[in-house]
Amino acid sequence: MHPMLTIAVKAARRAGSIINQASRNLDILTVSRKSHSDFVSEVDSAAEEAIIKVLMDAYPTHSILAEESGNRGDAKKSEYQWIIDPLDGTTNFLHGFPKYAVSIALLHRGVLSQAVVYDPVSNELFTASRGRGAYLNDQRIRVSKRGLLADSLIGTGIPFRDLSFLEAYLAMFKDIIPKTAGIRRPGSAALDLAYVAAGRYDGFWEIGLSPWDIAAGCLLILEAGGLVSDLEGNENYLKSGQIVAGNPKIFVQLLQIIAPHLTPQLIAANK
Ligand code: IPD
Ligand code: CA
Ligand code: CA
Ligand code: CA
Repeated sequence: MHPMLTIAVKAARRAGSIINQASRNLDILTVSRKSHSDFVSEVDSAAEEAIIKVLMDAYPTHSILAEESGNRGDAKKSEYQWIIDPLDGTTNFLHGFPKYAVSIALLHRGVLSQAVVYDPVSNELFTASRGRGAYLNDQRIRVSKRGLLADSLIGTGIPFRDLSFLEAYLAMFKDIIPKTAGIRRPGSAALDLAYVAAGRYDGFWEIGLSPWDIAAGCLLILEAGGLVSDLEGNENYLKSGQIVAGNPKIFVQLLQIIAPHLTPQLIAANK
């Protein structure tokens, strides 16, 4: 395993044990709201601090972008930037709904180079290093081979935070539903993308995401032989938070269905 990936795994597992410990007593957690539906608990912060400590002890000169504490170090000066979501799926976690994960990615000169998505409930560890493939625990994973959308299971997420996107999203949703074998919306984008990499979903789309939700998952998919883009088929997904992903055949079909639903607002948000 690449040494930087080994450190990321150590950090993710440490966060995972904090999350597991806390999940036994959800009633005593202090929870606040960042916006009407973006909850944050003391567990998000504690997990994030633990991750940053492991990374900084190993690589004190690297910069960081983390969901709860923001930027640390100078991303322009450092060649390396870690992108951290300490707990992706906080709402699920707070409800004892067992679909949440730790997500850690490393950018090297702006290119995704290492990725970990760790599900502490199932103890599933998804990892990837650029050019070296993607793994679930010790097994190599690949995207599915399904070619027909009608046979495909598609994951998605609802843009419930920025409600201005909702109408355009629902139009896509309505168009995609009858063309697939089924749609799922478990509520952890990081895990959703890991599932595409593992071939559990054939495709995925969501809008209104942040880089920490998707950075690690995107590298997993690319290293598993899948494709990822923004809604227009371009590479701006990390910045825009609009994402389409899947095995190469299903990816193309999703983009085709989405294209007529691209509103001027979505196109502007994609820039
Ligand atoms: C959220 C999850 C969810 C997605 C939201 C994200 P958080 O992350 O990834 O699936 O639909 O947009 O913000 O806030 O639980 O880390
Ligand atoms: Ca959050
Ligand atoms: Ca997240
Ligand atoms: Ca989070």
